[in-house]
Formats: sequence, C-alpha cells, structure tokens
Amino acid sequence: MAYDKNTPFNELPDLPPVEFQESQEILRHLAKASRYLGQLNGLCASLPDPQLLINTIVLQESKDSSAIENIVTTQDELYKAATEETTASHAAKEVLSYREALYIGLERMHAQKNLLLTNTMVEIVQTIKQNKAGIRSTPGTSLKNAINGEVIYTPPCCEDVLGQKLASLERFINDPIVSPLDPLIKMAFIHYQFEAIHPFADGNGRAGRIVNALYLVQQELLAQPVLYLSSYIVRYKTEYYQLLRGVTEKHNWHDWVMYILTALIETAQLSTKKIRNTLSLKEETEQKMKQVLGSSFSYDLLELMFTLPYLKIELLENKQIAHRQTASTWLKKLDEANILRAHKIGRTTYFVNYKLMDLLSTD
Ligand SMILES: Nc1ncnc2c1ncn2[C@@H]1O[C@H](COP(=O)(O)OP(=O)(O)OP(=O)(O)O)[C@@H](O)[C@H]1O
Ligand SMILES: [Mg+2]
Repeated sequence: MAYDKNTPFNELPDLPPVEFQESQEILRHLAKASRYLGQLNGLCASLPDPQLLINTIVLQESKDSSAIENIVTTQDELYKAATEETTASHAAKEVLSYREALYIGLERMHAQKNLLLTNTMVEIVQTIKQNKAGIRSTPGTSLKNAINGEVIYTPPCCEDVLGQKLASLERFINDPIVSPLDPLIKMAFIHYQFEAIHPFADGNGRAGRIVNALYLVQQELLAQPVLYLSSYIVRYKTEYYQLLRGVTEKHNWHDWVMYILTALIETAQLSTKKIRNTLSLKEETEQKMKQVLGSSFSYDLLELMFTLPYLKIELLENKQIAHRQTASTWLKKLDEANILRAHKIGRTTYFVNYKLMDLLSTD
C-alpha cells in the first residue's frame, strides 16, 4: 500500500533499514564523531568529581531539549529553580523533571542488566510529564503543522500494533549479538524509529532524546549521560523535522544519519570546551577565594558554587557548609571581591556565580 500521511503508518518497517548504505561521507563523519565523543568521555573520566560538571551539562541539555517543545526558561530562572524548587515557574519545573527522567532512566537501565526496556521508556515519559500516561491506546493521534494545522504524519495505531513495534525496537536496542553496524549509526536509526512509533500522546521527542543518551551509556561510548544534542536540534529544528519525514516518505536514511552524526560532532566538541573552560574557571576562582577568605577558605563552598551557581545563605546552612553568620560573611566578601554577584529577587538575595553562568550560556 502506498504511504499516506493521513493514515496510521502501521507498515513502519522494523530496524535495521534495508535501504541504508554507508557512504564515504558517512564513514568520515562517523570517525570524527567517535573521536570527539571519545575525547569528551575521556575528559569526564579524568574529572576529580565528575558529578559536579556533569550536572551542569545535563541541565543545559534538559533546558534545550525542553525548548524544542517550546518550554522556554532562561538560564537564570533554571538555576534559581535548581536551588529553590518551590518557587520555580512551570517551565523551569518541567525542565527539572526532564533531568530527573534522564537519571531515573539511567538507574533503571543499570538495575536491569544494562537493558534499555520499553517499561523504562514509559517511566521516562511519566517523569517528564509528571503524570501516569502509558502507551497510546486510543486512535486519533497525528502530527500536525503548528501553523496551518495540516497533517504531517500519522503514527501507527493502536495498542497492539504499538506493543509489537516497541518490542521489536527493544530487541534491536538490546541485541546481544555484536552488530556490524556502528552504535552511533544504530542510535540514529533508534531515534527515528522511536519518533515514528510515537508511543505516547505527548513527550515523545523528549523521551526519544533521553533514549539517545542512555543508549550511548549502554554501549559504553559515554560513562555518563553527557550527550548534549538538543542545542543542535534547536538550531536546526526545521531540518530535523524534514529529515524525519524524508526517512518515512523517501527512505532517505543517508541524510538523516548525516544530520545525527553532524550533531554529535558539534555538540561533543562544545561539551568538551565547556567542561574545560569550567575547570579553568574553577581553578582561577579557588585561587581568588583563598586570597579573599584566607584561612576560612572552604572547598565545600567552591564545589557548591560550581554545582548550583545561584547561592543563598540558607543553602549553605542547609548543606551544613557553614552557620548563618559565617555564610553571610563569606558571601558578602565574595560579592565585594567580584567573585560572586549579589542579586536580589523578591525578598531573597542570591549570590550568583555569574562567570559560570556566562560561560554556560555561550557556544
Ligand atoms: N514527521 C515526523 N515523523 C516522525 N516523528 C516526528 C515527525 N515530526 C516530528 N516528529 C517527532 O515528534 C516529536 C514531537 O512529539 P511530542 O510532542 O510527543 O514530543 P515532545 O517531547 O512533547 O515535543 P518536542 O519533541 O517538540 O520536545 C519531535 O521532537 C520529533 O522527534
Ligand atoms: Mg509535545
């Protein structure tokens, strides 16, 4: 039957695609992407406290991945929310839920013999959406052009078909037989397939982007889920949608795989650069803090400044880094020395590690 964008695409073929051929161009990009990912992974492994810097990369990815769905929050709002979740805006909370979903997915995968299972994907989407959504069970889902409402794609229907397609995708992801396909190319296939199945009523894009990161961890290409693809997708969003359609309508796997490999190359380089710059800034800050605080210099405070760049006196108290009086003295001195910058929002004064904020927001 000829493909029809208005009819559920129940003929969506299982992976791997028969039409895909590795060109010279793909092999060149593949080598480059593997090299940059390896570099990023090596850098992460050499960090004294990987969690510290990884947290910022993961938050950036959460912010950009959510922005694809038009959940827009500023960098400042997000880090403020990470310090004080109770007063966070709806958008900032959703970004924090994305990060939580990524970590939950990672935990489940590790607990389930490193398998990336359908039920984990369900849990991921439930955490992103903070609801009990399951796999779509009613007909009527289609992807529409946001401007004119025209149908772009109708994913498979219904529960039994989705169940079969997901089971098949799960087998492809967790296949124990060493495949001749490179895991980065497999990741590109998996991402298309997950989006084309479109298992949920909402949150498929974000869940699919989390699956990418988890897959690279499963394949031991990254020890931590520091994949930062979404900044690239945000920038080249129209192309992202067009290329997904290109696979469905014209079996154009080549351009889709090229897009994903290019995104990997650019974003792995960017993450490496950001981590290196953050490390230098941290060293520089440590020296300056020692001059300003003398013998009361606190390494815990330095670490906190690079985990949560929006500090406040209560935070230092809650983390048992210092009593109120000491915390207040430290933060004021650091503000006077231009290491932090005091910033009043409502009745709360935040002391912002503004240099880190600047560094994170530039590409
Ligand atoms: N033609 C298409 N074929 C298959 N999948 C598509 C197509 N166009 C878009 N998609 C996928 O659907 C996702 C959007 O689906 P959904 O709204 O359920 O996810 P989301 O996480 O809420 O949104 P977003 O991905 O925009 O953040 C897109 O990110 C993309 O990955
Ligand atoms: Mg959506």
